[in-house]
Amino acid sequence: MAFFNKLKILFLSIIVLLGAVTGLLSMRPKENKSTAPEILYSGNTSLDKSPHPYGEKLFKENCKVCHRINTEAIGPALRGVTQRRSQVWIYEFIKDSQGMIKKGDRTAVELYMKYHRTEMPAFQTMSTANIDSILVYIELSDL
Ligand code: HEC
Repeated sequence: MAFFNKLKILFLSIIVLLGAVTGLLSMRPKENKSTAPEILYSGNTSLDKSPHPYGEKLFKENCKVCHRINTEAIGPALRGVTQRRSQVWIYEFIKDSQGMIKKGDRTAVELYMKYHRTEMPAFQTMSTANIDSILVYIELSDL
């Protein structure tokens, strides 16, 4: 099962890379616009729309019930979180926020109080690579 998940992640990473390359290629021939406009539409539009399709999928499946990117919901708006917290802090919080709160991490406790003691679920098995995908999606999304 873990091996299958790794394959899935690898496969999706390849799709993301292909999407990025197609996106870049479709941006290049700007000066040919008048002679060959159709080349501008040759990209995979469903991938081009998202800054990180896999991160978007993970975010929608696991986080969107409580979080929005730009506005507060059940939990805080997540845009800019990579500027206000360290990467290590974010990994630990997503994997076990309650553990951090019990340990007395000041920021975690303050957030917990501010959000009326709402417990965020622990995503203990989420890999740091998957968390990175979500963070890239959050920070680059133009929603
Ligand atoms: C059940 C609702 C819920 C879900 C689902 C949830 N969160 Fe949260 N999250 C919260 C709440 C509430 C807080 C505020 C702290 C607290 O109450 O523990 C928070 C805080 C955070 C913070 C800290 C924000 C800051 O400003 O420092 C991050 C980062 C975060 N969540 C990321 C995620 C990610 C990524 C996911 C999906 C993998 C997720 N959360 C899923 C409710 C949720």
